[in-house]
Amino acid sequence: MAFNIAIDGPAGAGKSTIAKLVAKELSYIYVDTGAMYRAMALYFLRAGIAAGDKEKITAACGKITVTLSNEGGEQQVFLNGENVNGFIRTEEVGKMTSAVSIYAPVREKLTQLQREMARTTDLIMDGRDIGTCVLPQAQVKIYLTASVETRGRRRFLELQEKGTDCSLEEICEDIKKRDYRDMTREISPLKQAKDAILVDSSEMSIDEVVAKILEIVRDAT
Ligand code: DC
Repeated sequence: MAFNIAIDGPAGAGKSTIAKLVAKELSYIYVDTGAMYRAMALYFLRAGIAAGDKEKITAACGKITVTLSNEGGEQQVFLNGENVNGFIRTEEVGKMTSAVSIYAPVREKLTQLQREMARTTDLIMDGRDIGTCVLPQAQVKIYLTASVETRGRRRFLELQEKGTDCSLEEICEDIKKRDYRDMTREISPLKQAKDAILVDSSEMSIDEVVAKILEIVRDAT
């Protein structure tokens, strides 16, 4: 049976940074499920479908194929055969993703794909519902979080580095809104699984979080 590590948590908690490093240490595949939801959101944006148009979104789901590949440890996401890694990290796509990931047809499509990958492959998968819904049998479950202020500051510095003009207050407000939407949606809301271990990274360095998770994995094997 494959060994699965599930990492869930809110936006900006550092899940992908940490999961990538842990995957490298363990020689596991890293699966970023947020990128899969982002690829679907990109399709809806490009097709001019509004986030509130459940009917059109449901119909469009049948026309979408999302696939992943791993190149040099970096996950590549393909939308109907096109590599869309370069298009899915914008604020616009992020907001759309949070808004359309409430719909069952969107979630069912990706959940199925994620379970198939985890059945045969040792992997570390991050998202919002991995420990609670996608892989309830995962051998290790982590709920990685940090305060809104810490997450806002990290995002602010990231955007500043890219030369994007932004305000810390607005970023924190956006984070709160996204948390609220992700945590209160009807299907697979973000929450800590009963058997997940809570790691709060507010006062921890990246190295400390990676070491903590590796220790949890060691204890489970
Ligand atoms: O992790 P991220 O910021 O790339 O995720 C973008 C959005 O996708 C997030 O607001 C909620 C949604 N998402 C989800 O609903 N379920 C997942 N497993 C992963 C992401």
